Amino acid sequence: MKRTLLTSAAVLASGVLMSGCSWLGLGMDPAATSTAPTASADASTQWPITAQGAADFVASAETRLAELSEFVARTQWTRATYITYDTMWLESRANAQYTELQVELANEAAKFKDVAGLAPDVSRKLDLLRLGIVLPAPNRPGAAGRLSDITTRLDSTYATGKFQHQGKQITLDEATVLMAASRDPAETKALYEGWRTVSPQMKDDYANMVAIANEGARDLGYADVGALWRSGYDMEADAFAAETDRLWNQVKPFYENLHCYVRSRLNEKYGDAVQPETGPIRADLLGNMWSQQWGNIYDVVAPKTGGEAGYDMTALLVAKGYDAEKMVRTGDGFYTSLGLAPMPDTFWERSQITRPEGREVVCHASAWDLDNLEDVRIKMCTQVNGDDFYTVHHELGHNVYQRAYKDQPFLFKNGANDGFHEAIGDFVGLSALTPTYLNQIGLLDRVPGPEGDIPFLLQMALDKIAFLPFGLMVDRWRWDVFSGETSPAEYNDAWTANMLKYQGLTPPGPRPANAFDPGAKYHIPGNTPYTRYFLAHIYQFQFHRAACKQAGWTGPLHRCSIYGDKEVGARFNAMMEMGQSRPWQEAMHAFTGERGNDASAVADYFAPLNVWLTEQNRGKSCGW
Ligand code: ASP
Ligand code: SER
Ligand code: ZN
Repeated sequence: MKRTLLTSAAVLASGVLMSGCSWLGLGMDPAATSTAPTASADASTQWPITAQGAADFVASAETRLAELSEFVARTQWTRATYITYDTMWLESRANAQYTELQVELANEAAKFKDVAGLAPDVSRKLDLLRLGIVLPAPNRPGAAGRLSDITTRLDSTYATGKFQHQGKQITLDEATVLMAASRDPAETKALYEGWRTVSPQMKDDYANMVAIANEGARDLGYADVGALWRSGYDMEADAFAAETDRLWNQVKPFYENLHCYVRSRLNEKYGDAVQPETGPIRADLLGNMWSQQWGNIYDVVAPKTGGEAGYDMTALLVAKGYDAEKMVRTGDGFYTSLGLAPMPDTFWERSQITRPEGREVVCHASAWDLDNLEDVRIKMCTQVNGDDFYTVHHELGHNVYQRAYKDQPFLFKNGANDGFHEAIGDFVGLSALTPTYLNQIGLLDRVPGPEGDIPFLLQMALDKIAFLPFGLMVDRWRWDVFSGETSPAEYNDAWTANMLKYQGLTPPGPRPANAFDPGAKYHIPGNTPYTRYFLAHIYQFQFHRAACKQAGWTGPLHRCSIYGDKEVGARFNAMMEMGQSRPWQEAMHAFTGERGNDASAVADYFAPLNVWLTEQNRGKSCGW
């Protein structure tokens, strides 16, 4: 995740040291949090409604946002890495202030929309002033404070969530490791259900938050928050939604093939009583708390012959004595091999790489840009395993992008779209997981020959292809929630229905009447839009295919690594330097020569595996 400053809520992750409700009053007093900057009350009189007035207004807006954003970012960092009543109080107030500034500027920007002769950059920035708000507050006193109070509380509940497991209180990071390794369906069911006991208490807050933010979105001229989110892709909101359908239909047959194969292997291992041969897959059997990436159960589904040509990243890291810092240094080494500058000293001094002892922190991995210039950092609770080796590359990708666009004007310091931001590190990860690269850096002793291709591709598909429907369903749920199609009473059933519809999954048992399962996934209480990850799972393959072509690679795409290729690095950096200054289609074109979203790169990468899966599934009845 990139921690997004230009939002009211994605930044509001927070947690609490105390249990119970003693802290619920935080930020509840609207007067305490509604400290809108005052200089702007009569801003409309300051800027004539002309092209020059618009340019002057935008320049002033960028100055004000830049100044407040650094203050807010440092407040947020402090709170996210040291959660106390006071840091929460400070952050909540800072966020409300930032939201109020954003809303004020968005309303002001709207006044210039019919002005003739706007410079193209000014016109784009006027749009971005509206589109950059993830959860807008209504334009009335106290609303931003009320909204930030709720979002703080939602995120707090997630960050500090714990549950009883085998006589011990465990955290999400502990549960994640157990879920990855357990092959006992009774235990995976207990972990699945146990973690979901943290979220029922979020439901009322969530419903109230939806109502307030929708009011804010309507004030800005959008039907609801979902419509606002869908508007950020340099195309009509409806066209964007249709585009995600189109992409999903391109990749769905492949997902169904993978689903069919995995279901059959789970059935063989666990028997009909646990995993029937037909219908949905039991969601807790896939090695991940949200069944969003399935790579952790490679051992269960490995090809029956030749599967040993695969290798276990966690085992390699442990065998070679890696610790968390070495994993991050290794990630940095990949980027520098492309000719990019190493992370600055301050990155190493100020990042949170492992979970600190003795205080509560937000553990969900994120990448930060504190000063919009050089002060970039990651915040993780890194563990020595394959998933986090990958996540380190992912997070560093955000920092590399942030640094590349640092000379853009403030409103263009962002990804070409949010999917690009998520795709940078994933793209690098596609090279960094190749056996050739792992061998070059001494992690893997021997590069498997062609017999390693299917095991490798299967391992990759368990993560990348399995993710696609999850990447889609999270916001499909939220779009319906924001539009009112799904009422609060229907929240959980709609979530379960989406799991079935998109992923072909079912919970391990009936869900309790008070369940709020969406709240047990970080990005829901954290209010981070999720379609970005779906897009990133397409873009990273477009980038990879283009990069390998530039590198002159003619072998199979999954064997290609761009490690050490400074020319590809320079071209990639040129795209990143554009930030959000141009429509994303131009950024895509600058690097790949392609202008749109194109899932054919996914098909190209996995082609041999799809053939193999089709063969394995022969005679089976697939689907659910
Ligand atoms: N699992 C992380 C996510 O939410 C990886 C990341 O931090 O981006 O995006
Ligand atoms: N990082 C995102 C998540 O945790 C996508 O993998 O959900
Ligand atoms: Zn990310």
